[in-house]
Amino acid sequence: MWLDGDASHKSAEIVPTASLALLPLRSMSDEAATTSPANDPSLFDKIVNLSKRRGIVYQSAEIYGGFRSTYDYGPVGVLMLRNVKDAWWRAMVQRRHDVVGLDASILSPPQVWQASGHLQNFSDPLVDCRNCGARERLDKLDDPEQCPSCGMKGQFTEARQFNLMFKTQAGPVEGAGAEVYLRPETAQGMFINFANVQYTSRKKPPFGIAQIGKSFRNEITPGNFVFRTREFEQMEMEYFVPPAEADQWYEYWCNERMQWYLDHGMPAEKLRLRPHDADELSHYSSGTSDVEFLFPWGWDELEGIANRGNFDLTQHAEHSGAKLEYFDQATNEKYLPHVIEPAAGATRTMMAFLMAAYDEEQVNDDTRVVLRLHHRIAPYKVAVLPLSKKPELAGPCQELFAQLADHFMCDYDETQNIGKRYRRQDEIGTPYCVTFDFESIEDRAVTVRERDSMEQERVPIDELVGWLAERLA
Ligand code: GAP
Repeated sequence: MWLDGDASHKSAEIVPTASLALLPLRSMSDEAATTSPANDPSLFDKIVNLSKRRGIVYQSAEIYGGFRSTYDYGPVGVLMLRNVKDAWWRAMVQRRHDVVGLDASILSPPQVWQASGHLQNFSDPLVDCRNCGARERLDKLDDPEQCPSCGMKGQFTEARQFNLMFKTQAGPVEGAGAEVYLRPETAQGMFINFANVQYTSRKKPPFGIAQIGKSFRNEITPGNFVFRTREFEQMEMEYFVPPAEADQWYEYWCNERMQWYLDHGMPAEKLRLRPHDADELSHYSSGTSDVEFLFPWGWDELEGIANRGNFDLTQHAEHSGAKLEYFDQATNEKYLPHVIEPAAGATRTMMAFLMAAYDEEQVNDDTRVVLRLHHRIAPYKVAVLPLSKKPELAGPCQELFAQLADHFMCDYDETQNIGKRYRRQDEIGTPYCVTFDFESIEDRAVTVRERDSMEQERVPIDELVGWLAERLA
């Protein structure tokens, strides 16, 4: 058979779902940050190369020389990104009676962004280097005096505020009234639909509105692959609560969101919750914490969880004239709900899952690259592989593929020898490879190989769907 060695690792352990009991908010203190696990700086290049080689992420418009900071998700990447979003939706909407979904428009009129404060405040301080012309974000420079591109000191212009909104025009006539903006966050769609959703869903605070979708920011310094791009996907939820309950729900969502990453295979030592210092908080926020991941360049943000008070509903009520208060019949009270907002990046989170799962191990004289992804995040769940391309195997093997594909996302691969095909599936994190060989025609059984242990087992075809379903549950 094709036993190709022993693995030294097991797949990441799944931690039980968080209960309502609250974990301490400072789950990773500053002290812990300084003793953080050693990080591998070469991991970044390995992930970029793997992404290109295996159809996870491509540079956009590559045949035209590439369009900076935009990326296309290939056949494997599109599955993985979908799985990240599905896992979030499952936890945040499907499994909750208190959260409903929304898909709001990407284009919106200036009034929305006037009310939200984005037109006035959604900007970064920009400086130009007089020597080489490089444009930099002042707040991201290690040394505000020295240009990171040419190394010259004291050549920066005065900082000016650069608004990150993408503006375009609706309809054929230019000028006032035609201006529209691409949303820089999905959140405002939830705020401006608060009354609609509350009325039609008949939900009472505490309840949430969740949305996944594209957002656009004209970032001054996009970079680090898909970490910071101008077009990206967000997964956001606005949780509307009675004002007196805001602090308690803020803590609850900090815990829930940390647990979600752990439940999906993120190692605890590469994850931390960092409460913002007072000088980082927006004026309306009484608390914000970032879920951070240990990227190859250090700790950086995956998600922000903010206690936003009633700022957003107040602004939209004032600017639109709409009544956005909630009338609680039980207490005869009218109030503007406060909002707790867990806001995550889907594309950024997918990159973190790739980095957390990447592993190399020696198998005989070979280095095996394996993505030890959680089953729910893995692009394909099963690869169906005929031992040979001969029609007597390929025919029934394709029938087997059709049978399995009804239940799981499956790949079918008949090129190259079986060892190479196993390695290809390891590189994209496929949990199970099913090999149909010449014996399979006689004994109606197949060899199933598990990704992490590389152990193989003969399983009757009639029992295969149940066998896999049990392990992939
Ligand atoms: N509504 C709140 C909000 O949008 P944010 O911290 O600006 O908050 C939330 O964005 C998440 O969206 C971030 O934690 C990050 O994961 C993702 N994100 C923000 N800007 C991004 C960018 N330029 N590229 C990729 N992801 C981004």
